[in-house]
Amino acid sequence: MTPEQDARAIIAGLRAGLPPEPGALDWFAKGLASGEVSDAQAGAFAMAICLNGLGETGRIALTRAMQNSGTQLAWDMPGPVLDKHSTGGIGDCVSLLLAPALAACGAYVPMISGRGLGHTGGTLDKLDAIPGLRTDLTNDQLRDQLGQTRCAIIAASPQIAPADRRLYAIRDVTATVDSLDLITASILSKKLAAGLEGLVLDVKLGSGAFMKTEADARALAQALVSAAQGAGCRTTALITDMSQPLADAAGNALEVIAAMETLTGTSVNDALWGLTTALGGEALALGGLATNAAEGAARIGQALQTGAAAEYFGRMVAAQGGPVDFIDRWPDRLPAAPVVIDFVSPLPGFVAAIDTEALGHIVVHLGGGRLRDGARINPSVGLSGLANLGMAVEPGQPLARVHAASLPEAEAALKRLAAAYSISDIAPDAPPLIHGRVT
Ligand code: URA
Repeated sequence: MTPEQDARAIIAGLRAGLPPEPGALDWFAKGLASGEVSDAQAGAFAMAICLNGLGETGRIALTRAMQNSGTQLAWDMPGPVLDKHSTGGIGDCVSLLLAPALAACGAYVPMISGRGLGHTGGTLDKLDAIPGLRTDLTNDQLRDQLGQTRCAIIAASPQIAPADRRLYAIRDVTATVDSLDLITASILSKKLAAGLEGLVLDVKLGSGAFMKTEADARALAQALVSAAQGAGCRTTALITDMSQPLADAAGNALEVIAAMETLTGTSVNDALWGLTTALGGEALALGGLATNAAEGAARIGQALQTGAAAEYFGRMVAAQGGPVDFIDRWPDRLPAAPVVIDFVSPLPGFVAAIDTEALGHIVVHLGGGRLRDGARINPSVGLSGLANLGMAVEPGQPLARVHAASLPEAEAALKRLAAAYSISDIAPDAPPLIHGRVT
C-alpha cells in the first residue's frame, strides 16, 4: 500500500496542512464510495480539510475525484440542460419554483438536490413532505421523466458522485459543513456528473448562511465558478442575502406551502419571487434561451404569473408519485403539526437583527432536521409567519408561529426564538436581496 492509498497517511498529511499527494484524493473518494474508508476516517478527513483547507489545486482535485467516483450523465435533449444549486439557507424553497419555471421556458432540468445539512434545510426533505412523492429515481427513470415533464428534483442516484453521498451525511453530523473546499467539491461533484450545460449558483451570505461575511461568500462564489467553468460547465453565481429567512417559513411542509402560495399566486412572497426570477434569468441566459439575464428574468416572471410554472410543478409531482391533484389540493395534502403557538414580541420597536442560523437550529430541534445521521424527520414541524428585518412591532405582536409535535418542544422553541430575534428602537437598513454576481 503506497502512502496515497492509506487513509491514515492521507489524513495525517491533511492534518499537518500538507498538499495531498497526486492520486491520494482519487483513492480516498473511491474508498468513500466503496466503503473501504470508514466513517471515522471520513469524519477525520473532513475535519482536517475544514481546519487546514486544501488550496485551489487540492480543491479542484477533490471535486474531480468525487465527480469521478461514479457515473457521468450525458444528455441529448431538444433544449439546454440547466440547473441551479444553493449553498444552503433557511426558508429557501426557490428550487421548488425554479425547476418548473425553467422547464416552462424550454429548459430541461435534472435538479439533483440534497437533504438538510447542518442548520440549513434540504430540498429533498421538503419534497418528502408531499405524500407519495419519490426522489430516489434511477438514472433511466430520470431520463424518462425529463422527456415527459422536462424537470425532476431528485436525490443523486447511488451511481452519481457516491463519494459525496457518503461524505455529505457524515459532514452533517460532524460539524464539518462550513468549509469552502468541502462545499465546492460537494456541490460541483454532483452537478458536473449530471452533465449540465449551464449552472447558476446561489451563494448565500449572512447570519443563516455557511458564509457569514461578504469576503467568504465571494471567495466561495469565485471558487465554485472557476472550478465549474474549468470543467466546461457555463456557470454564474449570485451572492444572495441570508441575513433573514428567504420565505417567511422554515420547515419542510411549511416551505412547500410557501412555495405553493407563490407558484399558484394565492399569496406571493416577494423575496421568493425576486430570487427565483433573478436566478432563473441567469440560467436561461447561460442556456441560450434568453439574450441576457434581465430578459430571462422577465420570462421566468411570466412563467410564474401565467401559472405555467405551477402546471409543470404539478406534472413533476405526479410523475414522481405524488398526488395527481397537488396544485389544486395542496392545502389538504400536506401534514400539519398538532401544536401551534405564536412567539410574540416582548417590546415595541423594530426587528433589528435575526440570528437566522439559530432559526435553522430551532427547526432541526423541533424534528425538522437531523441531529444524527439517518434520524427520521417530522415533515410538519417548523416556523411560519417569520417577521422580517425592519418590521415595526408592538408588544404582544407575533414574530413567528411555532409548529411542534408536542408542547414541551414548542416551549423550547419559544425560548430559542427569544434569543434569535433582536428588537430595537432603530429600524435597520433593509439588506439587498442580491449582494453580487460572479461570472
Ligand atoms: N449543498 C451541497 O450539496 N453541499 C454542500 O456542502 C453545501 C450545500
